[in-house]
Amino acid sequence: MKKILFASSETHPLIKTGGLADVAGSLPVALSELGQDIRIIMPNYQAIKNCEPGRFLCTVRVNNCDVNLLETRLPDSEVPVWLVDYPPFFGFSGNPYLDDTGKPWPDIGDRFALFCRIVVEVAMNRAYLDWKPDVVHCNDWQTGLVPALLSLEEYRPATLFTIHNMAYQGLFPGSAYTLLNLPGQLWHPDGVEYHGMLSFIKGGLRFADRITTVSPTYAQEIQKPEFGYGLEGLLAYRRDYLSGIINGIDTTVWNPEKDAYISQNYSAKTLTGKQQNKTALQEQLGLPINPDLPLFALIGRLVDQKGIDLVLSCLPEITSLPLQFTLLGSGDKSIELKLQDFARLYPEKIAITIGYNEPLAHQMEAGADIFLMPSRFEPCGLNQMYSQRYGTIPIVRKTGGLADTVVDSLPESMTNGTASGIVFNDAVAAALHEAIKRSLILYTDKSTWKKIQRNAMGKDFSWLNSASQYLALYEEI
Ligand code: ADP
Ligand code: GLC
Repeated sequence: MKKILFASSETHPLIKTGGLADVAGSLPVALSELGQDIRIIMPNYQAIKNCEPGRFLCTVRVNNCDVNLLETRLPDSEVPVWLVDYPPFFGFSGNPYLDDTGKPWPDIGDRFALFCRIVVEVAMNRAYLDWKPDVVHCNDWQTGLVPALLSLEEYRPATLFTIHNMAYQGLFPGSAYTLLNLPGQLWHPDGVEYHGMLSFIKGGLRFADRITTVSPTYAQEIQKPEFGYGLEGLLAYRRDYLSGIINGIDTTVWNPEKDAYISQNYSAKTLTGKQQNKTALQEQLGLPINPDLPLFALIGRLVDQKGIDLVLSCLPEITSLPLQFTLLGSGDKSIELKLQDFARLYPEKIAITIGYNEPLAHQMEAGADIFLMPSRFEPCGLNQMYSQRYGTIPIVRKTGGLADTVVDSLPESMTNGTASGIVFNDAVAAALHEAIKRSLILYTDKSTWKKIQRNAMGKDFSWLNSASQYLALYEEI
């Protein structure tokens, strides 16, 4: 049995802005079910919900700050969660990265530097918890200083750093290094310095014993300039220590047979039940109720990564096709406005919901026929897996985890029963448009469509396999 400290800036269902929370809320459970002693550590944000009140454990002093550690549990599991409680940094409403108005926290570097210091104290068993991990599993830039700081310790636990997204690196002006009072030994180009700036993610990439990312394809892509954002050289240099492990999904949260948010539960055997969810969704969104018109859905952060610009360029042409389109998301304000303009122009065809809405995300997965995910890059992506589980056929661009989890519906894959979606290559609107037209042709042939739905719903996206791969890595290091 390994003792694992799992550090993350967000964990579902306590707090979530994206897929990292889904992973942090489900991978530790899978590892615990494999018999491992795993504990999650994360900041105690004011916006945390769905958990028992934290029980006071101890106070730890780092960098002249007295920080409390509280203990709660991940709901419906035995996994302990240690909350790093420091109200001057985390006691505000808003999300882990942005304030209520959508602006990044100005002191975000201070916040996560403090978080990293506490993780180090816990990892070194200096927080009076009488528990020393064998492995510290860090996730994304917010935890990047942990492997760096631990590298300076004697008798330290092994470290693994998982990249969920290379586009977010935690870059700060060089002056922040001094202000954060970080040890001088780490300040050099072979440390956490990046062209005169402080790079949190470099701490993970340079110092962790192993690096993983969330799909095998993305592990290759980030070694190239297009996806490496200036760190492709370091990643290529460390390629022997870098691997890709595809994310699993929480099959209890995302299960059409049991999902409490949807109006009719269904399975691959009772696919007709999906129809009722479509009717309910059309009604809820104010779209004409029509069982025959294919309903397209998109859920996600409205940022460059997700290829929403491709969707926007296609929309004028798409509206002349026999279909309906619904989108749920928030992010870039100019994208939000453009989408809302389209919805006003075509109320019969397009329904846009701006905001974050978990029940609606489930209802869209259940009620839609086709799911759009034309990402420019996608380290793993979870919605294409949820979609397949719900028999909602994904249209994806061939990149990152999308390439690794969706099989294009071509004659060969139709024959051997692996076809589970529609895949296109180029990040251009014309290619997405083609893929949409291809999906309409497949959709009209009811028996072919059912076959693809059943293939998709039969795939195993559970954590078991991937959690075992993490376990093998923990054992190696
Ligand atoms: P990323 O982490 O890049 O945002 P993923 O596909 O890995 O992308 O995960 C996104 C997660 O966030 C999914 O669980 C998705 O359903 C959820 N999500 C994204 N936007 C919204 C929203 N507006 N409302 C509800 N859930 C959302
Ligand atoms: C990131 C990526 C997404 C991935 C998620 C969880 O936010 O953008 O592709 O699925 O992390 O690993």
